[in-house]
Amino acid sequence: MCGIVGYIGEKDAKNILYNGLTKLEYKGYDSSGIALIDDNKNLIIKKESGKLTQIKKYIEDTNIISNIGIGHTRWATHGKPTQINSHPHTNCRKTIALVHNGIIENYLELKEELIKKDHKIISETDSEIIVHLISEYYTGNLYGAVQKIIQYLKGTFAIAVISESEPDKIIIAKKGTSMLIGIGENENIFGSDIPPILEHTKNIIVMDDYEIGVIEKNKVTITDLEGNILNKVVENIDLTIEMAEKSGFKHFMLKEIHEQPRVVEDVLRGKIENGKIKFDNFNITKEELRKIEQINIIACGTSYHAGLVGKFIIEEILKLPVIVEIASEFRYKTPILSEKNLVIVISQSGETSDTLGALRVAKQSGAKVIGMVNVIGSTIAKEAYGTIYTNAGPEIGVASTKAFLSQLTMMYLFMLYLGDNLNLIDNKYKEYIIKNLEKIPEKISTILNKSDEILNIAKQLKNTKNIMYIARHINYPVALEGSLKLKETSYIHSEAYPAGELRHGPVALIEENVPALAIALKNSKTYDKMLSNIQEIKARDGKIIVLASEDDENIDSIANMSLKIEPIDEIFSPLLTVIPLQILAYYISDEKGLDVDNPRNLSKSVTVE
Ligand code: M6R
Repeated sequence: MCGIVGYIGEKDAKNILYNGLTKLEYKGYDSSGIALIDDNKNLIIKKESGKLTQIKKYIEDTNIISNIGIGHTRWATHGKPTQINSHPHTNCRKTIALVHNGIIENYLELKEELIKKDHKIISETDSEIIVHLISEYYTGNLYGAVQKIIQYLKGTFAIAVISESEPDKIIIAKKGTSMLIGIGENENIFGSDIPPILEHTKNIIVMDDYEIGVIEKNKVTITDLEGNILNKVVENIDLTIEMAEKSGFKHFMLKEIHEQPRVVEDVLRGKIENGKIKFDNFNITKEELRKIEQINIIACGTSYHAGLVGKFIIEEILKLPVIVEIASEFRYKTPILSEKNLVIVISQSGETSDTLGALRVAKQSGAKVIGMVNVIGSTIAKEAYGTIYTNAGPEIGVASTKAFLSQLTMMYLFMLYLGDNLNLIDNKYKEYIIKNLEKIPEKISTILNKSDEILNIAKQLKNTKNIMYIARHINYPVALEGSLKLKETSYIHSEAYPAGELRHGPVALIEENVPALAIALKNSKTYDKMLSNIQEIKARDGKIIVLASEDDENIDSIANMSLKIEPIDEIFSPLLTVIPLQILAYYISDEKGLDVDNPRNLSKSVTVE
């Protein structure tokens, strides 16, 4: 949940660390800190609770010169977001500093032993234990101490450690959470994600679990736990800095919403060859695939909603049964899976703890597991049999937008891939689907160009306390997603229901101060039913905002407000209906003056249970 960055080279480390942390704030933002070693070999720590402004001020005011340092932005798990609990943590003598992402499950046990050995543990965190443990085993070789203590840590970690006794190196190690190293010229920079690295280099080493890195100015050495030097591949990452920055938009969320036409193009690019879908890392043979009798999709949050849309697509077109489950529920159930199940775990970050846990449970039960993930080299990508990368690029806004659209688009390709391999789809229909998918980017751009109309609606809704979202069939998951976007960015309570469920209870909530947003597309097979639901809400004085097709001439006489999209075959409609809902949530949040990109209490990736 936290962000880590580290630098060693010839430049001013404090500025590089601060810049890096600004690009990692989405990982956690309740406290932050840096550790530097200055020219006199003194370890200097600056850490504060709250946002990065304190660190910024410190960096502007100080005249410390340092070419080596580590930084951290925290999302509290153990202990409140106070100054003492923030990272970097130090040993008792304050000669070694450590930053940590992850959770040390046996920290209480370790703490007890360390206290017996006279270590003074001052924070409530699990992380501080690690630096005391390193100090306990330190005999003049920082690498050796880290190598020694890893065996005692249960849980997940990405750590970076510096010592004033060895001011020319940073030791890093990881298990179960990501760590990437950027290889530069006379400098090296590492981080828990790509954005802080990108402006320095595109040459990246992805660390694997139980590897230790020694990062020096002109050298990076990666070893296994036994100390054997590993020959790691340096990958050239095809991402631009702009892709990881705001590019002139007020917020990352808005930028990412506007990137969606490009995202759909990127998902489609290179995946369709002679009318067939091609996945590079699927790793499941046609013969194995033919044994599959059921698809299981497992995910959390927005990725779960993408899975629900996927169920509609696969069941409607291929008539293949799909079960979609929430990862945090699935992982503690008795899994009813075998080699006849194909499990797809969907995750933007590829690090979500529950989704990873579900993946492991599914693997143990003999099912083939594919990770549909956005972040390259993430833990889910590594542990799944095969990976489908969704190619959305780095998503910084905590509220997922472009990653969702990339997952949706990929669901159509995945359905086509299954259809091809299992002979469940005819060529003509396949062509029809591909043609329609290729038209989506332009149709999204048309919606984006009408953002001002959505802003007007946002202004009218911003003081609302509760909103009901209703839809049917393939757009019901979109209603769930629209409602989640609103909740997390605007703190407005909202519920999403399949419209047919209204009469079974939720309609009791409707009154003049509880508006309903209905997705009702004219060519949908449940359009008439949606109109009846809308009338029922009106009869109870509820205001109605309808997300309708442009060719619906009557809708404005029924709705209080409307959002319009181009008419589209219902099967593809989620790719468009979600866009106005994302924009609406964004504008309501911005109109309320909220921190759109970093909503309260949330973290970009939930790497704890
Ligand atoms: O990285 P993942 O896709 O596994 O994350 C799953 C959820 O935590 C995530 O979608 C979350 O619900 C977002 N805040 C939604 O905007």
